[in-house]
Amino acid sequence: MPELTTLASLLDIGGARIRNRVFLAPMSGITDEPFRRRAYAHGAGLVVSEMVASGELAKGRAGCDLRIRHSGLPVHMVQLAGREAAHMAEGARIAAGEGADIIDINMGCPAKKVTGGYAGSALMRDLDHALSLIEAVVGAVEVPVTVKMRLGWDESALNAPILARRAEEAGVKMVTVHGRTRCQFYQGKADWRAIARVRQAVSIPVVANGDVGSREEAATILEQSGADAVMIGRAHYGAPWIAGSIAAAAAGISAPGIPETPQALADYAVAHYEDMLSLYGIESGLRQARKHLGWYLDRHAAGVSAEQRKRVLTSFEPAEVILGLRDALADIGMSNELRSAA
Ligand SMILES: Cc1cc2nc3c(=O)[nH]c(=O)nc-3n(C[C@H](O)[C@H](O)[C@H](O)COP(=O)(O)O)c2cc1C
Repeated sequence: MPELTTLASLLDIGGARIRNRVFLAPMSGITDEPFRRRAYAHGAGLVVSEMVASGELAKGRAGCDLRIRHSGLPVHMVQLAGREAAHMAEGARIAAGEGADIIDINMGCPAKKVTGGYAGSALMRDLDHALSLIEAVVGAVEVPVTVKMRLGWDESALNAPILARRAEEAGVKMVTVHGRTRCQFYQGKADWRAIARVRQAVSIPVVANGDVGSREEAATILEQSGADAVMIGRAHYGAPWIAGSIAAAAAGISAPGIPETPQALADYAVAHYEDMLSLYGIESGLRQARKHLGWYLDRHAAGVSAEQRKRVLTSFEPAEVILGLRDALADIGMSNELRSAA
C-alpha cells in the first residue's frame, strides 16, 4: 500500500498545521465534543464540529453554544450551514470569537430539512449564491475557510470541480468532496474516481470522503482520487479510533488508547457515556448516548441477549445502564475487528 504512508505527513490548511491526513467527518448528532476528543486522542489528524445553523447561531439560539464551544484541542474547526450571507458571516465571526482556527462551510448535506431551506447541498444548484456565501465568510474572518461538498446535485450536474475552482479563487483553503451526488443521499457506492476531477481543478488540498473504513480503502481512495487526505464518517460508529488507527498504520506505529481487553472496552464505553451525561445533563445525555451504546454493542458484542440489550438501551437509570453495558461488553468479549486494530 504505497499511498498509505502519505497519510502520515503534515498538511497545511491556510497556515493551520494539521498533524496527519486522516480526518473524522462532521456528523450531526454524533461528533460532539466527547466524540471528537476521543477521535483526536487516538490520533485523527483533524476533527470538525457538527454543523451549526448559522441563522440560529447569529440569533443566539440555545444549543449552538455547545456545538461551537472550543474543545481545547490544538485545532478547533467549526462547520457552518446556512443560506443567508449575513448569517454566515456573523456565524463565522462568532465561531472565530470562540477560538475557531478553521471555518468549514457545509455544501454537502442532503437532508430535506436543510436543502429545503436552500442550504447544504442545495447550494450546488446555484453556484453564484454559493459563492456569495463563501465570499461573505472569507471576508468576515481572518482564519482559513474550507468547503465540504458532494459531486453535484445529481448525475446530470456534476459541478464539484467548478464549485471547487471558484471557491479557491474566492480564498478557500481546502475542499472536501463526498463522492456521491445529493440525489444519491447515502445509496450506492461513493465514486472515488470522480473526486479526481476536483483534484485536477484546484491547487488547494482536496480531501476525499465516502465509504472508507479500513487501511486498504484509505489507500485506494487516495490512489483513485489523487486527493491529499481522507475523511471518515460512519465507520467510526462504536469505534472512535478508526481515523487514528489508520493514521497510525500509515506512520508504522500503533494508535494510542485503543481498548485491548474486554474490561478496557467496557471502561471505555462507560467513560464515553459518562462524558455525555456530564456535557448534556442526565435527561438529555441519556437519550443522546443511546445510539453510541447501541453501536458499541452491535460492533463488539453482537451476541448479546435481547434482554441485556434492552436493559442498556431503554433504562432511564444511568447506574443500571452502566451495569448492563459492563455485563454485555465484558461478557461477550471483543470482536476480531478490535483485536486486529489494537
Ligand atoms: C448521521 C450523519 C450526520 C452527518 N452530519 C453532517 C454534518 O453535520 N456536516 C457535514 O458536512 N456532513 C455530515 N454528514 C456527512 C458525513 O460528513 C460524510 O460526508 C458522509 O457520511 C460520507 O462519509 P462516510 O461514508 O465515511 O460516512 C453526516 C452523515 C451522517 C451519517
